[in-house]
Amino acid sequence: MENKVIKAGMLGLGTVGTGVYKVLKSQEPEMEAKLGAKVELKKILVRNLEKAAGKVDDPSVLTNDPKEILEDPEIEIVIEVMGGMQPAFSYMLAALNAGKSVVTANKDVVASEGKKLLEAARASGRDFLYEASVAGGIPILRPLKQCLAGNHISEVIGIFNGTTNFILTKMTKEGMEFEEALQLAQDLGYAEADPTADIEGLDAGRKVAILASAAFNSRVVFENVYTEGIARITAKDIQYAREMGCEIKLLGVARLTEEGIEARVHPMLIDSDHPLASVQDSYNAVQDAMFYGRGAGELPTASAVVGDVFDCVRNILAGCCGRIGCTCYKDLPVRKISDIRSKYFVRMEVEDRSGVLASVAAVFGNNDVSISQVVQKRKKSELAEIVVITEKVQERHFMDAIRILEGMSLIRNISSLIRVYG
Ligand code: NAP
Ligand code: HSE
Repeated sequence: MENKVIKAGMLGLGTVGTGVYKVLKSQEPEMEAKLGAKVELKKILVRNLEKAAGKVDDPSVLTNDPKEILEDPEIEIVIEVMGGMQPAFSYMLAALNAGKSVVTANKDVVASEGKKLLEAARASGRDFLYEASVAGGIPILRPLKQCLAGNHISEVIGIFNGTTNFILTKMTKEGMEFEEALQLAQDLGYAEADPTADIEGLDAGRKVAILASAAFNSRVVFENVYTEGIARITAKDIQYAREMGCEIKLLGVARLTEEGIEARVHPMLIDSDHPLASVQDSYNAVQDAMFYGRGAGELPTASAVVGDVFDCVRNILAGCCGRIGCTCYKDLPVRKISDIRSKYFVRMEVEDRSGVLASVAAVFGNNDVSISQVVQKRKKSELAEIVVITEKVQERHFMDAIRILEGMSLIRNISSLIRVYG
């Protein structure tokens, strides 16, 4: 008996779309053997037909009319890899409402509008799967929603952005400053022409929103994730952190506390012995159990998309689409950053005279900030540099102390404030 043919349509044929096309084409026989069905990419939506023609065997598969996919009753699965909020969100909603399963790599849409799409999938009894939206080639959402479903997860932390991890690695290993390392990341094609979403922590923030929702069964949207980027980190911060036994990483933190969910992305000092400290270059890693691998790129991301397509096909064949939909059955608050307790690394330039250290300590003490480590370095001029690591303190108390220090004439400059993991 001939295997069934499941028809799919794809929205977008850029980096990820080209990877999905290559994987589906090059592994056709293996896939058919594994699934008992053939997946046929019937139509692919692009803006520029001419530009895309060289990427496919048969250019007649290309279209610039979304209706040829969204309104084709033969197409059962829509793969969205065009990116951006709109029209991607409307297209996915239309596909689900038309009774198609949808697979996406689009973290922007899932982190802000995922709930609406999951509800639409439930209403039409279809699948809405988005494994590739978090950490590309690392399978993490399926393990959280399925394999680890019987566990109580209290924290997921990780390195969710390859571009910034590459930049911090270059600053650490080769003493580069931020601008030089960013330029290198752009020259090597890691960072985009507009690297804002990576550098400012927005890309990682979207991934944290999606992960936190899956880990804690309560919807966290990107708009409630605190984000801070790496543009202010200097080679000197990294050098001092290393003297104190730490590395600096851009970490995403999703933590369940009695007061609600912490969901944040910011640079952090992390103990050099911690497994995440050794994650180098453009690699991503997620720790609950440790998941490590390529977080982006044509084939790693395509592998996650194709894995979801497999699930959709299996569910269609078994007549059980929509088995695992939205798992957010709780409604927990997301905590404000000012309420969160952290340790802090502070680097400041101060006048090099007696009593300065005591004055700094007094300001911290008066604001309930306890000091864990202090290092003082004399500079060439009349200035000295003090580096302090605090004990855990509520952020609002810490910031009160910093505002007082900033107003003191003997403090010339507070160069860096970086949270410390632990
Ligand atoms: P990309 O290279 O910019 O490709 C986007 C594709 O979508 C292009 O083929 C583009 O066509 C098409 N497109 C965009 N807007 C369109 C519109 N309005 N109508 C028709 N076609 C449109 O993007 P990408 O890097 O593959 O990323 C795709 C998605 O995957 C994004 O959501 C991204 O966040 C996510 N993702 C990417 C990676 C990665 O490593 N790149 C990793 C994980 C997740 P034209 O070229 O004709 O304009
Ligand atoms: N720009 C992202 C990164 C890849 O550098 O990790 C897409 O999520």
